[in-house]
Amino acid sequence: MVDKGSSTFKMENGKEGGSSDAKLIGIWFVSEWMANGKPNKFQLVELGPGRGSLTSDILRVFNQLGSLLSKCDISVHLVEISPTLSEIQASVLIEEKTELQESCFAYMQGVTKSGLPIFWYRDLNDVPVVMNNFEIVGYNFYLAHEFLDALPIHKFQKTEKGWRELLIDIDSEAPGKLQFVLAPAATPAAEAFIHAKESRDHVEVCPDAGVIIQKLAHDIEKNGGAALIIDYGHDGTKTDTFRGFRGHKLHDVLVSPGTADLTADVDFSYLRRMAQERVATLGPIKQQDFLRNMGIDIRMQVLLQNANDAVNRNQLLRSYEMLMDLDRMGGRFNFFAMLPHNRLSSSDQVTKQSTSASVAGFGELEWK
Ligand SMILES: C[S@@+](CC[C@H](N)C(=O)[O-])C[C@H]1O[C@@H](n2cnc3c(N)ncnc32)[C@H](O)[C@@H]1O
Repeated sequence: MVDKGSSTFKMENGKEGGSSDAKLIGIWFVSEWMANGKPNKFQLVELGPGRGSLTSDILRVFNQLGSLLSKCDISVHLVEISPTLSEIQASVLIEEKTELQESCFAYMQGVTKSGLPIFWYRDLNDVPVVMNNFEIVGYNFYLAHEFLDALPIHKFQKTEKGWRELLIDIDSEAPGKLQFVLAPAATPAAEAFIHAKESRDHVEVCPDAGVIIQKLAHDIEKNGGAALIIDYGHDGTKTDTFRGFRGHKLHDVLVSPGTADLTADVDFSYLRRMAQERVATLGPIKQQDFLRNMGIDIRMQVLLQNANDAVNRNQLLRSYEMLMDLDRMGGRFNFFAMLPHNRLSSSDQVTKQSTSASVAGFGELEWK
């Protein structure tokens, strides 16, 4: 197991900052809320909110759409393991915080700058479902943005003797150095995590991501809602993606452990398998397609028309390129959604293409 030390995450991952368009992500949740029949209550649950800037931008969208959401009781629930980052999130999102007793599920709470109740948890299992007098009266909308790629992975190599786990050992020829070694025999992880139909010869598996997806799938199947997972990843095609970043530069993962941010691309085919058909899954689709479907080009035109000088316009164009270019975030970042089956099955005759078209981002956005 390669533990990527996520709890000491330092936001120094060498990746491009502001990697998605937060406004359009906020609109995606509002669009799903509308498609879910505008329930009176929903909880925005973000896993691994980093510095809290994405949450803050999404809440700004909710605020701007106040007339639409005015009758909806919204609360915010952040799952964050790092005490340092939760402090940073609190400073961005709230005026005043309350630390809670160890006996409470949440460890901190407050009120956001736009007046919504907000809670912090160490574990996803601590986040409540939306209940009123023991009745489920709303949904959880889950968001995981650059979260799953920070969780620990197992690495496996196909050999003539079968699948072997890659472990980390001390390099006996170079004291103080670490090296990858193949386990001499099949480990329980190799037996548990390699899919029978696996065709690659090197695989990375993130069981923690699998457990999280199972939990989300279970909740969405039972109670409704939606999950949007946005991350570096592939659909079961890539092999060795584990890498480190330090000081915004690539860094050997085996050198000076604990000093670099470690990441591995998310295998969305594994996530889909872990959802076990409890829910409908859409994607992964590239960020370029998602944002185009969400209307980024129209948004860009409006922003350019309103930009009052060349510096502003150039900055907008540079941000657009960073978000949309296939060699940058447009191609590297993927969007994957989990929805209740009934959200997509209005007609038994619908094709897969027409069902995904009814979900914003996965088809063209339609406001009804
Ligand atoms: C790469 S950052 C993502 C930041 C943010 N979502 C963004 O896109 O800018 C990963 C976040 O997940 C948190 N994290 C990592 N492992 C976690 C875990 N096991 N439980 C809860 N939070 C975790 C980190 O502390 C950090 O806030």
